[in-house]
Amino acid sequence: MAITVNGADVALPDDPRVSLLDHLRETLHLSGTKKGCDQGACGACTVLAGGQRILSCLALAVQYDGQQITTIEGIGTATDLHPLQQAFVEHDGFQCGYCTPGQICSAVAMVEEARAGMPSHVSDDLLADHFALSHDELRERMSGNLCRCGAHNGIIAAIRATYADEAQTQDPLAVETAA
Ligand code: FES
Ligand code: FES
Repeated sequence: MAITVNGADVALPDDPRVSLLDHLRETLHLSGTKKGCDQGACGACTVLAGGQRILSCLALAVQYDGQQITTIEGIGTATDLHPLQQAFVEHDGFQCGYCTPGQICSAVAMVEEARAGMPSHVSDDLLADHFALSHDELRERMSGNLCRCGAHNGIIAAIRATYADEAQTQDPLAVETAA
């Protein structure tokens, strides 16, 4: 049994009780993914599985046999930041930084969810093909990622700036996502 983590094939643990979070951190030494609550409440452990955001503290590593896992180490590096990481720096999207890897992994997948027409609790039209990332949509869609430092305003500003630029909208605060 094996998974692919950031493009590299790695073995799964022999013990089926090991969480994906512990496997990433303790066995693979990918410490960018953080353990906050370890019970699905904070979002610090968010990683991507097949491009979708998951809470790795609630996932058993063996559940993801054969799947592609992306951690923050696979999104950007210190010398090659993802545009969203750069925006977090420019918009004061963090203080201690503990929640930041989870915030960024979550946001990367969240944008794809909106593009794919997945509604949120505050979406007006549940049948829309795609959703513009308004302030309210962003706050709702990112509500599973807590920041104990209270950097939420900077986090939302960084996400809006990054994806507004990508969409080349006229309004820098509006993010119109493509179908
Ligand atoms: Fe997984 Fe908090 S550590 S949600
Ligand atoms: Fe400290 Fe978010 S930056 S918890």
